[in-house]
Order: sequence, then structure tokens, then C-alpha cells
Amino acid sequence: MAERSIWGSRIGFILASAGSAVGLGAIWKFPYMAGTNGGSIFMLPYIFFTITIGLTLLIGEMCMGRAVRAGAATAFRKLGGPFVSGIGFLSVLTGFLVLAFYSVVGGWCVYYMVQAFLGNGIINDPAMMRGAFESFASSGVTPVLSHLAFLGATAVIVFFGVEKGIERVAKVLMPLLFVMMLILIVRGLMLPNAWEGVKFLFKPDWSAFTSESLLNAMGFAFFSLSVGSGSQMNYGSYLSDKVHLPTSVSWIVFLAIMSAILGGLMIMPAVFAFGLSPDAGPGLTFATMPAVFAQLPFGHFFAITFYVCLFVAALTSSISILEMSVQYLRDEWNLSRPAATLLTGSILAVMGTLCALSFGPLSHITIFGKTFFDFFDYTTSNIGMPIGVLGIAIVTAWLAWSTTKSQLSLVHPVSPWFLTTYRVVAGFLAPILITIVTLKGIGFI
Ligand code: ALA
Repeated sequence: MAERSIWGSRIGFILASAGSAVGLGAIWKFPYMAGTNGGSIFMLPYIFFTITIGLTLLIGEMCMGRAVRAGAATAFRKLGGPFVSGIGFLSVLTGFLVLAFYSVVGGWCVYYMVQAFLGNGIINDPAMMRGAFESFASSGVTPVLSHLAFLGATAVIVFFGVEKGIERVAKVLMPLLFVMMLILIVRGLMLPNAWEGVKFLFKPDWSAFTSESLLNAMGFAFFSLSVGSGSQMNYGSYLSDKVHLPTSVSWIVFLAIMSAILGGLMIMPAVFAFGLSPDAGPGLTFATMPAVFAQLPFGHFFAITFYVCLFVAALTSSISILEMSVQYLRDEWNLSRPAATLLTGSILAVMGTLCALSFGPLSHITIFGKTFFDFFDYTTSNIGMPIGVLGIAIVTAWLAWSTTKSQLSLVHPVSPWFLTTYRVVAGFLAPILITIVTLKGIGFI
């Protein structure tokens, strides 16, 4: 098995894992998912699933990785035994498939960042907002090249190893992204009609409730934490025994929720102020931001800074996913880091190209009624990750409970109350809710 490095510091681990969690999910996916799933009726279940099942099972995922000092495939096999070992592989596969469409959106970031540097980062006429994004996304060659640029950047950092690449980048630019978002929110809220966007996000409208929107909210909660897709388990395997998991993971979850709420508050008021439709789909953030920048003094400067930060936030997430896939090939197939990076990168280059083209030349090709992009997006969040989280719940609360207990209390003992809560959520609530919500959401029951 390949040698494993250990995080240099606790804060390095928190920032890297938060970097894995906070990314395009908060800023790109949350606003568009909230927009297409009834706003508040998506937001409230998302928060519920994140602070109950998400938080608990992210702690569980880290416990498994650290206990075994290996990624998901080995951890499930060693801690869970033969009946659940397939879930480990499925988690790795899920994470890997996320990157197929994630790097397309990362590519959109690259494109908008380059445009901002060229002085094309703002749009003064809101009527052009949507059209500008659509003509770019459907143009074929440019989105494919942008995706390849993003994937290439991810692969180069993974190629050179964990500590050197990830810790350094995450420490600097994550805080800057939060500051940028706050500035943009304040400006956005001053636009006419902006408060309609806030109401859309926070004022419950139960008439919009469907079981599919509930599944989407749960899937997004898992996606936004990167839980159940192998990457956080891999990061946990690099974690020193001196780190108290419940506290560190709570920080990660807090940062993930804050960033999604900030992402929503950054986009949705502007969507209403400029008369866009909230259910415009995956291009919502990219269509909206250029008009927000146009409202600010030094708009070009803001556009550049924002896209650079977003690019780095996306990169810290994609790095964690590719790193996990590479580590899997090193552990299970004995490949070298360069060979594993090259293999995964090449497959993803092809799959991502299909996803990038599904907004243009390949938009007519569908799998179960969904384009390549939508298919990978939907199945990873709404099927792959729920199964991964379910597996973590069963292993940590039942099959390897004694390992979980000792991991939780490694630095200082946790209270009996905490252990009971963990067991109730992981052992009962999570399996029941995940099963019902998933089966109902996909129309199976
Ligand atoms: N958790 C990652 C994100 O939200 C995948 O971007």
C-alpha cells in the first residue's frame, strides 16, 4: 500500500477539508438548485439534512478513514466486512463521476476569470445576461477547452502531492472568498426588488414541496459536504491522532452551511432585481454575476477577484476528489502517483468533454431523459452519495461501533450523551430517512 502523508497542522486539515466541502456547490449549485426546487422549501430541508445526517456521518467518515489509514475501498472492507465492501468502491466511483461534470463548471469559472482579466467581466444590460451565458456554454469548443484547463490544473496539483499543493492554496484564498461574497451580498441587497430574492429563500412556501425536491435537498446536503463520496474519508486517513474529530468536523460543516447561505444571498436577490427567472438552471450564477459587478464601482476589479477566488474554491474541491481517486489506484492497484493521475485525468478529460458538449452539440443525447451533464449530476448526488452515507452509517454505528467510539474519544473522551446521539442519528435516523427520501424521490415507492 502506498505511503500516506499526515496533515501538517489541525488548521491545515480543517481548511483543506472545508476547501473540499466549500466550492462550486455553494456558489454555483445551491442557487440554481434552490431556484428550481422552490427556494425556501429546498433551503430548509438542506439545512436540516446537513446538521443532522450530514454532520454526523461526516464525523463517521473521518473516523473510518483515520482508523484504517486508507481510503473508502479499504476502510469499508476492513471495518465493515464483505457485505458492505462494495459500498467503498461505489463511493470512490461516485466521487470520480462527480468530477466529470464538476470540471465542466470549473471550466466555466476559468472562462469567466479569463474574460474578467480581459475586461469583459461585466454586463451593463441585464437583458443580455442569460443569452451571454447560453451562447458560451453551447458553443462547443470553448467550454471543452475551459474544462480541460480546469482539469489540467487539478491534475498538476495532485501530481505533486498533498501537503505542498493543497494546504498552501487553501490557507490563503478561502477567507478572501468569504469577504468578497459579503461585499457582493451587501451591494445586491441594495438593488430594487432584491428582498423578493431573500423572501424566496427564507419564507416557507409549502405549496412548492415535492418528494423530488426533498431528495434534491438531501443530495445537495451530501454534495456540499463532499460526504459519502470517498474524498473526505481519504482526507481523514491523512489526519493526525491528535485532532479531536467532532470539533474539527463541526467547523467544516459550519463553513459549508455559511457558504451555501451566502451563495444564495449573493445570487437570488440579484436574480429578482434583474428580472431573471430563478429556475433558469445550471447557468444561473454565471448569468447573474456579470450584471452584479456592473452595479459596483471598480466592477472589473471585483469581477477578477471574485472569479479567482471561485476558481480556487472549485480547485480545492476538485483536488480532494482527484486525490481520492488517485490514492485508490495507488492503494488497490499499486500504481505510482504519476501513472494514477494520468489515468484518472485522461478518463475524466473524455467524460467531461461529453458533459461540456451536452449544453450544445450533444444536447439531444440523453440517458433516462437526462443529458450527460444532468445524468452525472443527478445520479452522484441523489443515488451514489446517499448509498455511500448509508454505508458509513451502518459501519460506524453497527459493524464497527467500538472503532467509532475509540476514534471519537481519541484526544479527550466525549460525553455519553454525545455517543448516544451519534448512535441514534447514524444507527436509526440516517438509514430510515435516507432510504425513504431516496426511494420516494426517484419514484420507487
Ligand atoms: N463539496 C464540493 C462542493 O460543494 C463538491 O463544491
